[in-house]
Amino acid sequence: MTTGYRLAFIGGGNMAEALIKGVLASEAPVTPEQITVGEPDASRRTYLADTYGVATTDDNGTLLARADLVFLAVKPHLVEPVLVPLQDHVTDQHLIISLAAGVPLTRLQAHLYADSKVVRVMPNTPALVGQGVSALSVGPGVTDKDLLPVQEVLGAVGLVVTVAEAQMDAVTALSGSGPAYVFTFIEALADGGVQMGLPRATAMQLAAQTVLGAAQMVRDTGTHPAQLKDMVTSPGGTTAAGLSALETGAFRGVVMAAVKAATERGRELGA
Ligand SMILES: NC(=O)c1ccc[n+]([C@@H]2O[C@H](COP(=O)([O-])OP(=O)(O)OC[C@H]3O[C@@H](n4cnc5c(N)ncnc54)[C@H](OP(=O)(O)O)[C@@H]3O)[C@@H](O)[C@H]2O)c1
Repeated sequence: MTTGYRLAFIGGGNMAEALIKGVLASEAPVTPEQITVGEPDASRRTYLADTYGVATTDDNGTLLARADLVFLAVKPHLVEPVLVPLQDHVTDQHLIISLAAGVPLTRLQAHLYADSKVVRVMPNTPALVGQGVSALSVGPGVTDKDLLPVQEVLGAVGLVVTVAEAQMDAVTALSGSGPAYVFTFIEALADGGVQMGLPRATAMQLAAQTVLGAAQMVRDTGTHPAQLKDMVTSPGGTTAAGLSALETGAFRGVVMAAVKAATERGRELGA
């Protein structure tokens, strides 16, 4: 385990808060004194300082002087205006970790000095409840040793995988947008229950817990989902009837088309 690194967050919004909360609650060797947040909104600064005991500032330049890992957690359209004034403050001791969706490593590097070490991360919203998944791609010169503390911080709010940057649009379409597809599925499942006479609140509890439990079985057992599906599908039974209706509606084809459409949209937006 690595120790002693100092974290800075430029932008103290939802994703920064999820990471701060997660890393402080985890076994990673990070204390509030090692974290500084740069955030323009005074009430947000007060909230973060009071809730997590972290230092805050509205001056991103001074922030870099007390940091090794710099998480860029502003909205994508603010990346350039935030990075350009910081160019002279970034040194080779810094690792810049961008959470900004759709902003390529080359664009991040273009706003820094030539040898700056940059990592691009695609997190997702379940990080807010410690069940996120983050995919990361690394820029030139970033070593496995550089990545250890990044993996520790991101690992505090979920799973971490490494992908080639060319795959980031597909990752965004799957795990970045995926929670929205799953929320829609949960809503539909509950709607079906209500249609069949269940009270709304009960239907929602049943639907959400069913998705959570099924996902955990896939993750924890490592068993192929098709095999798990076969295990609950008895001949001529209720599940077989339900699955048949899903196939009539081309359920799997529609889900695959959603990932394809979102990937293509990501490519368009990044072009
Ligand atoms: N949330 C997600 O699920 C998710 C998933 C994947 C990727 N991401 C990426 O994570 C990044 C952050 O998203 P988020 O959901 O955390 O957004 P957010 O809640 O809007 O947080 C962004 C924060 O940055 C602050 N900010 C604005 N200008 C700044 C500046 N010049 N210096 C420092 N801070 C500044 C904003 O303050 P004000 O509100 O006062 O402007 C806000 O508190 C985005 O690039 C997004 O693409 C998020």
